[in-house]
Amino acid sequence: MYNKRYHPLSIFFHWLVFLLVAGALAVIELKGQFVKGSEPRELCKTIHGLLGQLIFVAMVLRLGIRMIYGAPTQPGTISLFRVLDKAMHWLLYFLLLTLPIMGLVFLQAGGKDVHFFSWTLPQMINPDPSLKKTFKELHEWLGNTIYFLVGVHALAALWHHYILKNDTLRRMLNKSDLETK
Ligand code: HEM
Ligand code: HEM
Repeated sequence: MYNKRYHPLSIFFHWLVFLLVAGALAVIELKGQFVKGSEPRELCKTIHGLLGQLIFVAMVLRLGIRMIYGAPTQPGTISLFRVLDKAMHWLLYFLLLTLPIMGLVFLQAGGKDVHFFSWTLPQMINPDPSLKKTFKELHEWLGNTIYFLVGVHALAALWHHYILKNDTLRRMLNKSDLETK
């Protein structure tokens, strides 16, 4: 069990998910530049949906790896900051697993097919305009909170590194020297 540092696979998936989330948000922002119904606008949505599904797969794998190898524990007393850090991590796990499901639900409830590369996902939801509206609004609202949550999370990591001068960021970069101490 790695309890002083993250397993290399946890580190790999952390940064892979970071890139996928950045890509998914960038293309959905780009979508706004094109007129409704146009081909590039639809392409942006398709790429966003695909990246969102890849995020879901990566998060499931990441959660499994975390369950097997665990996460580092810090010595010392439990502080409010540490509790908030942990709460933020679990909130991010929760949102990155549920947002893709909400995306799938609102598209299928709107009568649209959802593709994962060339595979069309089975229709699990019957067309239902009010369900579509609710899940679309929820997806958009929670999707937008990701900007804020990731911003706070990244600032917390920089705070640990530059102000508290501890190992938190280095261990997520696989540069921790804890094992040699
Ligand atoms: C963790 C993954 C995801 C995140 C963080 C995310 C986030 C977002 C955000 C921020 C928006 C823009 C909201 C707005 O316009 O204010 C959005 C829109 C959208 N999302 Fe996602 N999403 C994710 C996964 C998915 C998946 C898997 C699908 C489809 C299978 C999907 C389908 C859509 C669609 C179609 C829109 C555009 C809605 C419209 O304006 O017509 N999303 N998403
Ligand atoms: C889409 C962007 C991001 C997401 C979704 C995300 C998500 C997460 C999650 C869920 C954890 C907990 C890992 C675990 O215990 O299994 C974590 C840890 C961590 N993240 Fe991020 N992260 C993102 C971006 C960033 C960025 C940009 C930085 C650095 C500036 C960063 C630095 C860290 C650090 C240092 C840890 C380890 C914290 C600790 O061990 O207490 N993350 N991240």
